[in-house]
Amino acid sequence: MTATKGLEGIVATTSSISSIIDGVLTYRGINIDELAEKATFEEVVYLLWFGKLPNQSELDDLKGKLSEASSIPEEVIQYVQGLPKEVNSMAALRSIVSTLSLYDEEANEMSDEANIRKAIRLQAQLPTIVAAFARLREGQEPIQPKQGASIAYNFLYMLTGEEPTDIAVEAMDKALILHADHELNASTFASRVTVATLSDMYSGVVSAIGALKGPLHGGANEQVMAMLEEIGTSDRAESVIKEKLSNKEKIMGFGHRVYKNGDPRAKHLQKMSKQLGEVTGNSNWYEMSTQIEEIVTGSKGLKPNVDFYSASVYTSLGIPRDLFTPIFAMSRVSGWTAHILEQFENNRLIRPRAEYTGPSSAPYVPMEDRA
Ligand code: ACO
Repeated sequence: MTATKGLEGIVATTSSISSIIDGVLTYRGINIDELAEKATFEEVVYLLWFGKLPNQSELDDLKGKLSEASSIPEEVIQYVQGLPKEVNSMAALRSIVSTLSLYDEEANEMSDEANIRKAIRLQAQLPTIVAAFARLREGQEPIQPKQGASIAYNFLYMLTGEEPTDIAVEAMDKALILHADHELNASTFASRVTVATLSDMYSGVVSAIGALKGPLHGGANEQVMAMLEEIGTSDRAESVIKEKLSNKEKIMGFGHRVYKNGDPRAKHLQKMSKQLGEVTGNSNWYEMSTQIEEIVTGSKGLKPNVDFYSASVYTSLGIPRDLFTPIFAMSRVSGWTAHILEQFENNRLIRPRAEYTGPSSAPYVPMEDRA
C-alpha cells in the first residue's frame, strides 16, 4: 500500500454535479462562463440540486420556498448574541449551523423529501446567519430578509440595512454562482465523508464549513485581502511580493491543485473587481491585484484562483474582510447539499486505508521502566 500525498490525482467517487475537464468547469455540463453571464444564483442552486435548469414555475416555486425559509429561529439569534465579540467568523458560522440543527425538527430525518427541505433551509438561512452575526457583534439589530428578493439582494440588504445598488447585487449574484460548486474540493469531500456514515445533512455541512475555513481552501480570500492591506500602496507591491517569494511564503489566491493553466472563475471576478473599482472611485485594490498577478505569474508561473479577485470585489462592496469566507460558505452550501443528496442516493461508507510508517513489533514497556 503506497499513499499519494494529499490524494492528488485520486478519483474518489463518481459525481454528475460538476466537472473540471481540460481546465473547463461545468455545473451539470453547462460551462461556468455561460452561467456566470446568463444565470441567477437561484437557477444555479436548482440546477445543482435537481440536475436541470428550472422552467419559470419551478424557479418561482424554489424562490418562494427559499424566501419562506430564510428567517432563523429566535433561539439561534440569542445564541449568536451570546457569542464572544472577537470570535473567528468561520468558527462562529460552524457553531451557529450546528446550533441551527438543534432547532430543526427534521434534522435527523433521512427521507429524500426531508433532505431536500433541509437543503432549502440551509441555503436560505446561511445568508441570514452571516448577516445577523455581522450586525449583532456591532451591537446592531439583525434585519429580516425581504420576502421575494434574491439571495444576493437580501444578503447585502440584511448586512447594511440599505437597498443595495443594481451593480452590487449583480456582483454578489455572480460571486455566488462562481463559488457554488467545484467537484471534489476539500470541503465537499469532507461533507461526503461525513454523510457516508449515514450521519445527517447538518453534520455534513458543519464538517464542510470546518474544512472551508483553512487558508489553503476558502480561507484564502481573507488572506488575500490581508496581504493587499499589508502592501497598502501599489508602489510597494513588487518589493513585498518578491520578498515573500524569496522567503518561500505562499502567495494567497494563487495556485490550484487541479488547474495548472488558470482557474476559469478568476477572469469573471477580475472583471467585476475592475468594474466595482470604477464605480466606487477606488481602483487601488484592483490595480494592486493586477500588479501582483503580473509578478507572481511572471516569476512562478502561478495563476490566480477564485479567491484572488474575490477579495477586492467584496472589499469594493463594503464587506468586512472576515466575512469573505462565510460568504463563500453561503454559496458553496448549494454544492455541499447537492453532493450530500448525491451521496445518499448511492451511498457506501468512505473509508480509505493509510500506508503505515510507524514502528513495527514495538514492545509494551511497563510504566516503571519508561524514561
Ligand atoms: N505561492 C507560492 N508558491 C506556491 C503557491 C503559492 N500560492 N502555490 C503553490 N506554490 C508552489 C509550492 O510552494 C510548491 O513549490 P515547490 O514544488 O518548489 O515546493 C509547488 O508550487 C506546488 O505546490 P503545492 O502546495 O504542493 O500544490 P498543491 O496542489 O498541494 O496546493 C494550493 C494547491 C493549496 C491551492 C496551493 O497552490 C496554495 O497553497 N495556494 C495558496 C492558497 C490558496 O490560494 N488557496 C485557495 C485555493 S482555491 C480554493 O480552495 C477555493
